[in-house]
This record gives sequence, structure tokens and C-alpha cells, in this order.
Amino acid sequence: KRREEFVEGSSSLWREDCRAKGGSPGFKVAILGAAGGIGQPLALLMKMNPLVSVLHLYDVVSTPGVTADISHMDTGAVVRGFLGQNQLEDALTGMDLVIIPAGVPRKPGMTRDDLFNINAGIVKTLSEGIAKCCPKAIVNLISNPVNSTVPIAAEVFKKAGTYDPKRLLGVTMLDVVRANTFVAEVLGLDPREVNVPVVGGHAGVTILPLLSQVKPACSFTQEETEYLTSRIQNGGTEVVEAKAGAGSATLSMAYAAVKFADACLRGLRGDAGVTELPFFASRVRLGRSGVEEIYPLGPLNEYERVGLEKAKKELAGSIDKGVSFNEMKT
Ligand code: NAD
Ligand code: LMR
Repeated sequence: KRREEFVEGSSSLWREDCRAKGGSPGFKVAILGAAGGIGQPLALLMKMNPLVSVLHLYDVVSTPGVTADISHMDTGAVVRGFLGQNQLEDALTGMDLVIIPAGVPRKPGMTRDDLFNINAGIVKTLSEGIAKCCPKAIVNLISNPVNSTVPIAAEVFKKAGTYDPKRLLGVTMLDVVRANTFVAEVLGLDPREVNVPVVGGHAGVTILPLLSQVKPACSFTQEETEYLTSRIQNGGTEVVEAKAGAGSATLSMAYAAVKFADACLRGLRGDAGVTELPFFASRVRLGRSGVEEIYPLGPLNEYERVGLEKAKKELAGSIDKGVSFNEMKT
């Protein structure tokens, strides 16, 4: 019904009012680092997600512009921007899901671990905000090195007494997305029909594709296995080198982050023991409380067993590094 008086921004106000009266379903999602290379396309895609009713865009730069731009999209989510540390708490209060792509990306010649010194502090501060303002939110952590930033966030939450391992998730979905694409190329299939489990962590040998468990069932020669394992493990570096100093994967990452966030939101809506390490990327079933079931690794062949041992060894070091970072600072 047409309003008697036009009010700028009234479409957002009307949608908020509807929700307050229980008229519109949806979740509240914050993106921290929303003005960055990943943040911007991620914000765009989350604004298109029908499960999102409120979208908070937080960064230390440029959020007014990004927010104004995205807010003109005629989709359901109400968008609000937050700029700088003193608006972090407002950005986080009441959120159901917090996605974190804040931090610096690699340049050619760097490892993800080379980002530790800068990104560890950023992730720690943002995690403290989450512990204070939305301790029940599901957290999707993208900032690298993921193998160490997830343990950093876990230590912050433990210290605050809010840690729930079901709700803290490092995002390694890009490895799965890449694996599906590269395996589909070798098999001559549509990548949408291919499902490759990738477990472990998110750097080099800790990225462990389980090629013996690809669906649809198939087999690979030793040469194909080695080519695919190496391409999947080095997919990030392939993009860093192609971008030649202008950053790392942003567009495919935003796509992967949305795939993962959407699965988390569907879990929250109610749809639908792997290793001794405290942090290990696995296939999971997501539900109302976050991770409801961790699927076992399944049978591994000899090549994968050797890869698993290498992955666990390196991952254990990165986890220790993340845990000790918090001990050093407190
Ligand atoms: P970018 O530099 O383009 O954007 C990062 C954004 O973070 C910037 O807008 C910056 O202002 C913001 N930022 C910095 N400090 C902040 C703080 N304290 N609070 C809030 N925001 C802050 O980088 P990018 O390409 O978007 O990559 C971001 C991170 O994601 C990097 O660490 C990168 O290595 C990582 N990454 C992870 C994956 C993965 O698979 N998990 C894939 C690609 C990139
Ligand atoms: C990726 O896998 O693309 C990211 O982790 C970014 C990087 O530094 O490789």
C-alpha cells in the first residue's frame, strides 16, 4: 500500500518494522573487513541472500561508501555501515553470524604464515568484540593464516568464558571449491556434479584432498593424484602470483565464503572425531547450534595416509603458534 508521505530510506525502515512484528524471517550477519577485496563482493552476495535480514558492514576504512552503494540493491536485507574501532561494538551487537575477512593478504614470495604478525592482532581484537557483544554468534574466520588465527580466536573466547567449538569455524571452503573445479577438469565433468572432501588445514601440505573419496566415484593415476594434490595445495599461490602484488584470491573467496555462510544460516534455521588435533578442517553437519556432527575421515589410501601425517605435523605447529600468541600478550 502506498504511503501518504515519502521518506528517504523508508523501504529499510518498513522492512525493520515488519521483522519486529515477526513478519519476516532472516538472520543478522556482520562482515568485519567489509571494505576489502573479499569484503566487498562478499557484502554484495550476502545482500542477495534471502536468509539475511540485517547486514552490518564493518571496517576501519571506506564503509560509508560501500554501505551506501550496497544499500541501493532492491533485496530484502537492511544494510548498515560501521567505521572504526569505536563502532565495533554496535556492529556486533545482536549478530547471529560474523564473517571475518579483515587483515592483509599475501604478495608473491610470501607464505600465509608471513601474515601472522599483522593479522594475529587484528583477529584478537575482533574476537574480543565478539566475546563481549555477540558471544552466541557463529564465527566464520577467513583471515590468514587460518591455521593460527582460529586458535587465536579460540583462546580469546576461552579467556572470556564464551568458547564453543561448535560455533568457531575457520573457512577452508575455497580449497573444496578449487578441488571440485580442478578434479572436474581432469574427469571432464561439470564441477557442480563433483564433490571432493578436503580436510586438515589451510596452507600447503595441511590442505589434504581425499581424492579416493571423490563423488561421483572415480579413480586417478598416480600422476593425476600428484598433479591434483599439488594444484589444490598451491591454488592460493597460483592466484597470488597471477595478481602479481595486487593481493590474493578475493572473488572466488567471496563465492566460497557465501557458500559456507549460507550453509551455516541454513543450519541455524534448522534444516537439515576426526583427529587428536583441536583444530582440523572436516566435513560437518551444521545445525541450530553450529556444528552438530563431525563426519569421520573415512578410509584413506596410502598416499593420503602419508599426506595426513605431514598435514598434522605442520598444523600442530601453527596451532601452538596461535595459542602462544595469546599467552604472550596476556
Ligand atoms: P584486503 O586488504 O583487500 O582487505 C582487507 C580489509 O581488512 C581491508 O578493507 C582493511 O581495511 C580491513 N581491515 C584491516 N584491519 C582491520 C581491522 N582491525 N578491523 C576491521 N577491518 C580491518 O585483503 P583481502 O584480499 O580481502 O584478504 C583478507 C584476508 O583474507 C587476508 O588475510 C587473506 O590472506 C585472507 N584470505 C583467506 C582465504 C581463505 O581461504 N581462508 C582466501 C583468500 C584470502
Ligand atoms: C587462498 O587460498 O587463496 C588464500 O588463503 C589466500 C592466499 O594467501 O593464498
